[in-house]
Formats: sequence, C-alpha cells, structure tokens
Amino acid sequence: MRKHILILGGTTEAREFGQQLAARTDIAATLSLAGRTASPLAQAVPVRRGGFGGIAGLAQYLRDNAIEALIDATHPYAPTISAHALYAAAQTKTPMLVLCRPPWRAVAGDRWSEVLDAPEAAQTLGIEPRNVFLAVGRQEIAHFAAAPQHHYLIRSVDPVDPPLAVPHARYILARGPFEEEQERALLRAHAIDVVVAKNSGGAATYGKVAAARTLGIPVILLRRPPELPVHRVASVGEAMAWLDHVLKAPVDRGV
Ligand SMILES: NC(=O)c1ccc[n+]([C@@H]2O[C@H](COP(=O)([O-])OP(=O)(O)OC[C@H]3O[C@@H](n4cnc5c(N)ncnc54)[C@H](OP(=O)(O)O)[C@@H]3O)[C@@H](O)[C@H]2O)c1
Repeated sequence: MRKHILILGGTTEAREFGQQLAARTDIAATLSLAGRTASPLAQAVPVRRGGFGGIAGLAQYLRDNAIEALIDATHPYAPTISAHALYAAAQTKTPMLVLCRPPWRAVAGDRWSEVLDAPEAAQTLGIEPRNVFLAVGRQEIAHFAAAPQHHYLIRSVDPVDPPLAVPHARYILARGPFEEEQERALLRAHAIDVVVAKNSGGAATYGKVAAARTLGIPVILLRRPPELPVHRVASVGEAMAWLDHVLKAPVDRGV
C-alpha cells in the first residue's frame, strides 16, 4: 500500500522534492499550490490548488486523505500557511517537516540594510527620488505607493494588478532563475541605485544581490518572518532521509 504524503509547495525545493518522490513506488505524494500564479510550472506529482480553508480545513484534508507525513516546503515569506500547517499537523498527529532554504548571509562588499517589512522598506528609501529595483513579489508592492517620489522598476511572474499607484513605474514579467551577469546588465540599463528584495535564499534569485554588490548598489532586505518550532532541513536530500525515517515508524494518531 502506497503511503500518502502532502507537500505544501510554491518553491523550487517543493518541485524538486516532488520530482524525486515521483520515482518512488511506495509513496503517493500530492503537491499543494496556493493557486496564485496564472501559469504554474509543471510538476512531477499530482497537484491540488487553492487554500484549504484555514487550520480546520487543512486538518480535515490530512484526515480525509490519510496523510502520513506533511512537508511544508512553502516560501520562507509565506508565514500563514506554515503556521496553519503546524497546528493542523499537531491536531491530527501528522509528522511534519519544514524544508526551507537558509537565508543569504552578507559578504564583504555587500551594502545591505534589513527592515521589518515592505512599509518600512518604502520609508527607508528616503525623501530624495531614487531609481528602485523592486523584486519583492506582487503581494508587497502596493505598500510602495506610500513613497511615490521614486522611479520603480518592478519585476514579477504575473502582472501587477492593479498597477502601483505612483507616477513612475516600469514592469518586467519574468520567472527566475536570474544570472548575475544578466542582473548586472538590468541594474545598469535602468540606472538602478537601490534594490529592495526578500532574503529568499538559494541560487535562483541571488544574481541581483551579487550584481548589486559588484556595482556598489545598496540592497534593502525585508526580514524573514520568525521560524516556527518545527524540525527543519535545508535540502531535498535531508527531507528524503527524514521522510524515510518517519514512514518506517509506526503511526500513533491516538484513535
Ligand atoms: N510570499 C512570497 O514571497 C512567496 C514567494 C514565492 C512563492 N510563494 C508561494 O506562494 C504561496 C502563497 O504565498 P503567500 O505569501 O500568499 O502565503 P501565506 O500568506 O502564508 O498564505 C495565505 C493563504 O494562502 C493559502 N496557501 C498558501 N500556500 C498554500 C499552498 N501551498 N497550498 C494551499 N494553500 C496555500 C492558505 O489558505 P487557507 O488558509 O485557505 O488554507 C493560506 O492561509 C505559498 O505557497 C508560497 O510557497 C510565496
């Protein structure tokens, strides 16, 4: 009998984990996506889309589908679903793991400042107009309407709708990975003098950070939400080792 596991996804790691699990004959994995992206990448395992309806909905899903392990491989800046996963797993006694890339660390030459959130980032840009490369994802962008004096270059996977309510904004639609050289060319072409980003970690979006360093451009990073008290690994290999260990252990759901 195949063991059912649920991966909460929306990241490269979730996709890669799904790819590895697709080859396993002893496991039936489902990958869950929030459904925000209009044309999501293909996945190697079956996908379900859309919210569960809070903690109770996710707990119900875990029960209804006899999920034997829950892997939270969502983005580090998606704290709501991660908290829901923590509580739903506890309620249903489902073993749970967080698979999450570690944040980038500053190296010599980086001119980083860290802020709590997008409103603080908008304030930190200052009064004088600047050319800002905004790479924070669509959901945070509206906060920058509070700083309309700047010229924004905004990159996102799907169109920003409604557009940012400022007089000067240009949009690029693109999906990573982004190479450092390509990012340097972009920052130069738009005479960018500050980058605003999330500390996503991983290689796919590090190019802009490395490019900013070599060009001496400051980077404002939104701080990561606090980590939840859940066992956490940084790589797909470690997640697989954890899963194998957990699936061997007898399940005690107290029923
Ligand atoms: N935030 C980012 O910067 C970012 C970047 C890249 C990718 N993503 C991915 O985009 C998704 C949405 O991000 P967010 O910031 O809106 O998350 P969020 O604020 O933590 O979640 C909001 C709600 O969206 C639903 N949801 C989120 N992820 C889901 C998933 N994988 N499967 C099913 N439902 C999910 C849940 O709805 P219910 O309460 O109804 O269950 C959740 O309460 C995440 O899955 C994340 O991995 C986010």
